[in-house]
Amino acid sequence: MGLERHPLSPRLDHCPQGLPREAYVDSAWFDREMATIFTRQWVMVGRLADFTPGRMRRVQVGAAPVIVARSADGSVAAYHNSCPHRGSELCRAAEEPLGKLIRCPYHAFSFAAADGALVATGHAVPTPDFDRAAHGLKRVQCRDWNGFLFLNFSPEPGALTADTGLDALDNWPMASLLTGNHWEVEIACNWKTFWENYSECLHCPGIHPELCDMVPIYGKGIMGPSEALGWTPGGAQGSNLRSGAETWTLSGKPCGPVFPGLSEAERIAGYSFVTLWPSTYVVAHVDYVRSVRIAPMAPERTRLTAEWHFPAETLAQPGFDAATVAGFAKIVMEQDGAAAEMNQAGMRSPAFRAARLMPEEYEIHRFHKWVLDKMETPA
Ligand SMILES: [Fe+2]
Repeated sequence: MGLERHPLSPRLDHCPQGLPREAYVDSAWFDREMATIFTRQWVMVGRLADFTPGRMRRVQVGAAPVIVARSADGSVAAYHNSCPHRGSELCRAAEEPLGKLIRCPYHAFSFAAADGALVATGHAVPTPDFDRAAHGLKRVQCRDWNGFLFLNFSPEPGALTADTGLDALDNWPMASLLTGNHWEVEIACNWKTFWENYSECLHCPGIHPELCDMVPIYGKGIMGPSEALGWTPGGAQGSNLRSGAETWTLSGKPCGPVFPGLSEAERIAGYSFVTLWPSTYVVAHVDYVRSVRIAPMAPERTRLTAEWHFPAETLAQPGFDAATVAGFAKIVMEQDGAAAEMNQAGMRSPAFRAARLMPEEYEIHRFHKWVLDKMETPA
């Protein structure tokens, strides 16, 4: 035999059932996810450096609209984008100038940009029973992690990275990296469908010829050696990249200076993934970092936002084209988007009840348990 599952392998020792069909198509299920998962978990909304001082910008946390207000002094506050008076949108454009006040365009109620306090009620003259203090903007918690801005609706949010090490990107100069390329696309699938596709490589040989050429083990349908039957611990972990390649670019060559602080293992590996359910994954390479946001819009609509972050000196190289660097991962993400749409289309069939997961889909199984656990946790 010899080809057995080692107890330390992440492979499953059984083939469990996935989430029910409703989880992917049903609006009541979606609403429950928005009211539980996306109101309690940290959700990444962009690079802090990309929020310009003196501007406010609309973002989304789950399906809910939020304003990120960055004052001229650089401080950041986030509020629900809904006036406490009659509920109107406050920030209507994608981005607007921000002074000391946020003024509702409907009835001119005005709020302090710094803390959301109600300071004026326009032409309305409230009676003494109106409690001004109780009618400020509803605040959203903000936190900076490695230069990424995360928001959380919970007044007492939990740790930012419960499922991953906070230190995963410590050797990358994250705070100083600048966004060189931005790509946004809306795909016709449930947000979990995209995450599930991200979580397994059984589809890689059929869907990703370029990626499998770059990372030969993906061509075997697995993400790492420990997933293979017959694997035993202790073997040396070499590069996952094809011979001669150092990073994910079309040529395999770094697009600028290699980050000096990386460990040998990080440099040899060529890529390090950090997964932050439900909103983000980050792929750190030896020369640049890519972040991807997965934002649910509707049960079968998801917005994908990918950004590529570089050192300033890389961006300043004569003739440097960030779009060319982004090109490689963009090919892969387009393939993944199409695969997720194909998956979603088939799940609409009434014949589909639930997935039957394979041992290699251990990460999907873990994701499903996480989703159910968050949805079942009382508020
Ligand atoms: Fe993929």
